[in-house]
Amino acid sequence: MDINLIQEEIKKDLAGVTSRQGLEEVRVKYLGRKGLLAELTGSIPFVPAEQRGVFGKQVNALKNSLLNQIEEKEKELTAKISVPDKNFQDIGMPGIVRMPGALHPITQMIDEICSIFNRMGFSVVEGPEVETEYNNFTGLNIPLDHPSRDAFDTFYLKKYSKLLLRSHTSPVQVRVMKAQKPPLAIIVPGRVYRPDAVDASHLFMFHQIEGLLVDTNIRFSDLKGTLELFAKGIFGQDIKMRFRPHFFPFTEPSAEVDISCIICKGKGCSVCGKKGWLEILGAGMIHPNVFKHVGYDSKKYTGFAFGMGIERIAMLKYGINDIRLFFENDLRFLKQF
Ligand code: PHE
Repeated sequence: MDINLIQEEIKKDLAGVTSRQGLEEVRVKYLGRKGLLAELTGSIPFVPAEQRGVFGKQVNALKNSLLNQIEEKEKELTAKISVPDKNFQDIGMPGIVRMPGALHPITQMIDEICSIFNRMGFSVVEGPEVETEYNNFTGLNIPLDHPSRDAFDTFYLKKYSKLLLRSHTSPVQVRVMKAQKPPLAIIVPGRVYRPDAVDASHLFMFHQIEGLLVDTNIRFSDLKGTLELFAKGIFGQDIKMRFRPHFFPFTEPSAEVDISCIICKGKGCSVCGKKGWLEILGAGMIHPNVFKHVGYDSKKYTGFAFGMGIERIAMLKYGINDIRLFFENDLRFLKQF
């Protein structure tokens, strides 16, 4: 019995192992109940007494060495399994489901409105949501006793009594005209704030888009043409438009603009209150007093301005009956846009 020969045979057998099953076969061959080790152990009592001690130790050493080698081989096989084959693709594996985000419907509406005016040559400008009382009111010819100046109609900052949350986007008119000379054509999207009680058509925060165009020889008909192109771009070519006389302190003459009801096409229904028309914005020619505040010569320049509520436009366009839906972050609502 040559222990070294057995050692070599074990090495050869293990080197040829490539799978767990192959390893198990080797284990059984040497360590199984009828394996070589069992045979050697069984022969110990028949070895002459003076050699028995040495032989026993050799068999034991052989067994331990075999156990170690099998353990090593096992580690080797496990490592191989966990490194995936570069060329292996499991086409039955479930795919990674992507959950792409989307733009908020109000953002989409702003983009759509801005792109229509961009094509007409207007550029987009933004202004701060915290404004001075001057820009929000005085510069726009809104008199001191106007009801919108009241604390019930405007959020004032407690510590700084001359600062407020802008109640419309019109103060950006004042900012831009003070900074730039005509000609200019801008639109201004942004948030505005009014301390209104919340219901299906009111929020204390909503969005407006302001438009302003100043140049020589700008007439009311330019305003009409511009707004008609806008309304048809948003609501379709069949839409009709009408201008109703109105009053704003910063425009003269002023108008409120209606479109024919998109639900009943002008016949009268519950959405338009049987009138056949829906109000969508306020507009007018810039008041000479506003030009005076910003240092424009009202003999030389004329211009128009308009302002609209973005939520209102989106509600009309998509038939949404509650403004609160826009800000409840309910994915079932938002995913429809
Ligand atoms: N600022 C007005 C509003 O909030 C809208 C408006 C803007 C009217 C520009 C005329 C011209 O109601």
